[in-house]
Amino acid sequence: MSNIYGKNIQISIFGQSHSPAIGLTLDGLPAGFAVDFDELKTFMRRRKPGQGEHTTTRNEQDEPEFISGLVNGVTCGAPLTVVIDNTDTRPADYEKLSDIPRPSHADYTAFMKYGGNWDRRGGGQFSGRLTAPLCVAGGICMQILKSEGIYIAAHISRIANIYDRPFDPVDVGQKEFETLKTADFPVLDKDAGARMLSAVSEVRLAGDSLGGVVECVAVGLAAGIGAPMFDGMENRLASILFGIPAVRGVEFGNGFEAARLRGSDNNDAFIMDGDVVRTRTNNHGGILGGITSGMPLIFRVAFKPTPSISIEQDSVSLSRREETPLVISGRHDPCIVPRAVPCVEAAAAIAIYDTLLDPPGYISG
Ligand SMILES: Cc1cc2nc3c(=O)[nH]c(=O)nc-3n(C[C@H](O)[C@H](O)[C@H](O)COP(=O)(O)O)c2cc1C
Repeated sequence: MSNIYGKNIQISIFGQSHSPAIGLTLDGLPAGFAVDFDELKTFMRRRKPGQGEHTTTRNEQDEPEFISGLVNGVTCGAPLTVVIDNTDTRPADYEKLSDIPRPSHADYTAFMKYGGNWDRRGGGQFSGRLTAPLCVAGGICMQILKSEGIYIAAHISRIANIYDRPFDPVDVGQKEFETLKTADFPVLDKDAGARMLSAVSEVRLAGDSLGGVVECVAVGLAAGIGAPMFDGMENRLASILFGIPAVRGVEFGNGFEAARLRGSDNNDAFIMDGDVVRTRTNNHGGILGGITSGMPLIFRVAFKPTPSISIEQDSVSLSRREETPLVISGRHDPCIVPRAVPCVEAAAAIAIYDTLLDPPGYISG
């Protein structure tokens, strides 16, 4: 089922952009974990729409209502079900799109798969709005991981051609994590951030959009977590990360850059750090053979520019079977990347926590 993810914990996401509500059921959490609701609220706020000119003006409160799975804020072993109301919908903005698909959005492919029955309002089940429940589940998994000494953080590594300072892959400055987690625009280099913001403002005024890259790191993972072949840590991360709409690519460690290097440059020499085996460099991004090495787990996620732009584009009328111009109205993010940062952290937390729960000696299956 394409809306269900996980082996040891299972998350099932439901709803559409303009249905009365969206939500999730998360099954398999251990009983006895006290959820920190303030921390979850802060986390959810980072993804929330309607904050500043670099996000869509759709104004949703994104307040999760816990229907089951908690007693006095503590997990009780029952499936955790959460509902988030959709309150600020404007279905009229999407009437024209029922016949004229937006280039680079899922309108055309959804029409081909579901015929006239799919919910086109706001992109239906393909909407970035479905990442709100992902963030509830991921926010809770991240809290559980933190209680086990595993920390996850991400930042905007790049918007268009403007780059932030990368994480140090060997010695990730964990001090920076708290700043990133409370920032409206999470970057390591404030000047780069200011340039990114003005690029987003410029493109918004032009009715266009920009893409970019999110870099994410997990620290505190022991060596030996994961499995080979089809169930490796990379596979499990990539599978959930590609569930975030607009993701175009995922690279681990130095990723595609490795293809350009000689083995002698790319290989990460093993060293002893007291009694602990580490690597001097971390081109492998903390994963070898699908299994964690104990080094920081680092990956980057590429996002395309927001498909809905207000510049006139070429499209087709599906009923008239003829080419026709399209001008999209409605409220859209000029750049998805800032709001995608917590989504990437959430997806990583779910995948890593799920993998951590594999039984000892687990191979694949
Ligand atoms: C947080 C977030 C917000 C998004 N906001 C918009 C938006 O305002 N307008 C839009 O056209 N696409 C938006 N998207 C992207 C589309 O949902 C996505 O491109 C579309 O569903 C097609 O899926 P694909 O790009 O993965 O092929 C957003 C994605 C995310 C993760």
